[in-house]
Amino acid sequence: MLDFNNLTADSIYQLLTVSGAEKERLFECARETRNQYFGNNLQLRAVIEISNYCDCNCCYCGMRKDNTELTRNRLFFEDTKPVIREIYDLGIRKIILQSGQDAAYPLEELCNIVSYARGIGIENVIICFGIMKEADYQKLLKVGATGYILKFETSNPLLYQMIKPKDTLAERLDNIRLLKQLGYHIGSGNICGLPKQSNMDLADDIMLLKDLKVDMASVAPFISNKQSPYKDFSNGNIDITLNIIAIMRIVLKDALIPSISAMETAQSGAQLEGYKAGANVITINMTPLHIREKYLIYDGKRKITSLEFAKNIADTLGLKLNIQNKEE
Ligand code: 5AD
Repeated sequence: MLDFNNLTADSIYQLLTVSGAEKERLFECARETRNQYFGNNLQLRAVIEISNYCDCNCCYCGMRKDNTELTRNRLFFEDTKPVIREIYDLGIRKIILQSGQDAAYPLEELCNIVSYARGIGIENVIICFGIMKEADYQKLLKVGATGYILKFETSNPLLYQMIKPKDTLAERLDNIRLLKQLGYHIGSGNICGLPKQSNMDLADDIMLLKDLKVDMASVAPFISNKQSPYKDFSNGNIDITLNIIAIMRIVLKDALIPSISAMETAQSGAQLEGYKAGANVITINMTPLHIREKYLIYDGKRKITSLEFAKNIADTLGLKLNIQNKEE
């Protein structure tokens, strides 16, 4: 029987494929760890998808630069104001501003959004805009950004090169470390089920998250997109993805770990299972409809997490929905 206290890449590798009673034990340990650090709480945050322009050409992603079939859109400061106000009025105090890697997006607009959100009382503003210039990270911090999500997607440098031709794994990791050094809460994570990815790669991904000392960690099951080069590859395995959530929880202990809507898109009910595996964050989508419909990174009827859905999940699991996100 494996000792969950000091997991190595090899023991993680074995845990990735457990099922039946062993899986139940893994999930139970993950839930205990979650409850130890966060109590019986499900934290809520809201995402606004600011732009679906992207300078990258990631082979798995429908928002890739070379996808000419996608209509592109940007939301600017004035467009986001009513949404941020609405989020605040719902009692939510944590937002994510998400975008493709869109270097042409005016930084001043983004700074205005951050500063407005902080000004009306949003306590945490997390940016997810891909790799930016150091000076821009600093400017955003100055106007009140608190967190930055930059997923490495895979810890295997060769696989990285294959799936993300725009930059290198080393460059991305340098940026993640820089963000942490500057004072951001950092989030990162991987995709499970990429072509040519091995389970050992997935085990290394979790070790890398630990090494980076991330404050937030997430895993997405790969979902094919017909407007991407990986259109013919099959989707990631949901059971392994759920085991990854549980292992992340046990290894990273007090990290914020969402069960993301892609889980639900891949398989109905899978997002809920993510919370049984130790996830503790739910992200509701507050992007205005006209841009939300264009924010397509993968195929399938995209599942949009609403506040209602979040409430249902919390009720079903007997968790307390922590809308204001106060640490207890
Ligand atoms: N399948 C699963 N996740 C994807 N992402 C992008 N494309 C896909 C896909 N086809 C994820 C990446 C990215 C996040 C915004 O969405 O992890 O960081």
